Amino acid sequence: MRVLSGIQPTGRFHWGNYFGAIRQYIALQENQQAFYFIADYHALTTIDRPETVRAVNETAFTPQRLTEYTREAAIDLLALGLDPKHATLFRQSDVPEVTELTWLLMTVTQMHLLEKCHAYKDKKDRGIPADAGLFTYPVLMAADILAYDSDVVPVGLDQVQHIEVTRDIAQRFNRIFDREVFVLPEARVLDQSAKVPGIDGQKMSKSYGNTIPVFDTPKKLRKTIMKITTDSTPVEAPKDPDTCSIFALYKLFADEEQQASLAARYRAGGMGYGDAKQTLYDAAMAYFAPAFERREKLAADPDQVEELLRAGAVRARLKAGEVLERARTACGLGSKSVSL
Ligand code: ADP
Ligand code: TRP
Repeated sequence: MRVLSGIQPTGRFHWGNYFGAIRQYIALQENQQAFYFIADYHALTTIDRPETVRAVNETAFTPQRLTEYTREAAIDLLALGLDPKHATLFRQSDVPEVTELTWLLMTVTQMHLLEKCHAYKDKKDRGIPADAGLFTYPVLMAADILAYDSDVVPVGLDQVQHIEVTRDIAQRFNRIFDREVFVLPEARVLDQSAKVPGIDGQKMSKSYGNTIPVFDTPKKLRKTIMKITTDSTPVEAPKDPDTCSIFALYKLFADEEQQASLAARYRAGGMGYGDAKQTLYDAAMAYFAPAFERREKLAADPDQVEELLRAGAVRARLKAGEVLERARTACGLGSKSVSL
């Protein structure tokens, strides 16, 4: 069975990305073939342009940042435990077979399928001119998935619609060309039931400017944690852990005993939110310490990371080339007649 997923390099990874997605990708690499890629072509659809409206505090998404975030994403994923011995990690744009397959799929993709997709609809509804890249984004995503004969695609709920579109496109291609060219993938919805809250209590997301990045320096991390919004219950008074973002975040790092112990300190009174924040900081530092250590080594050896991405792309291209050949033959293009 092959598992595949992609993650966009549109910012540095935050705790929401880690607990909501990355940690689960890493768990899945153990027992099956896993392909994970950094979706730089998809990220390209959100590079800033004159009509982009950004919230205050948000950093502009420039071509330089796309390069930087792609490089950092690879280092971060490896540091967090993605193991190239088990999983194939690569950059989406290193596999030209996928963009070629996108065109073949585009020729059988019905407009109404794309018109109902939310990324495009949301943008259009907000009056932002959407371009063809955003409109056809789901077809590129379908090619990403179908190019590797993927069986299972772990994604957040917001991406399930795109997997449905992928299945529709694959079925239509198979039907039109009367062959089982593509494997039909299944979505595996990631467990995001415990939405990770941001420092303002809303869902943590880079579009709300409320994130806690996984790999900030300890000093910056501490400063961010100290900014978590709380109510104004005085130090002496008992507090409710179940309505507090600090406690919700602490639960991600702590075992049941540790959770019960902090909950008891909340309920007893006499503990200020500053203390709870310090407890959260210590827990996060301890939890991510091995990843920080691995990250330091990886960051000191960019050539090694580049080599891993290259080796991943070679493996990915071998598989994608095989599937593309199948698709080309089915639709009458035949094998490529020129190879350089
Ligand atoms: P952002 O909202 O910061 O732009 P993305 O949409 O790039 O994040 O998310 C990448 C992955 O991380 C997705 O699978 C998404 O569902 C997951 N994710 C992001 N934020 C959270 C969160 N606060 N809680 C749980 N999962 C999250
Ligand atoms: N669109 C996905 C997201 O924003 C990223 C992505 C691109 C992806 N191609 C994919 C995810 C293929 C799974 C499979 O999160």
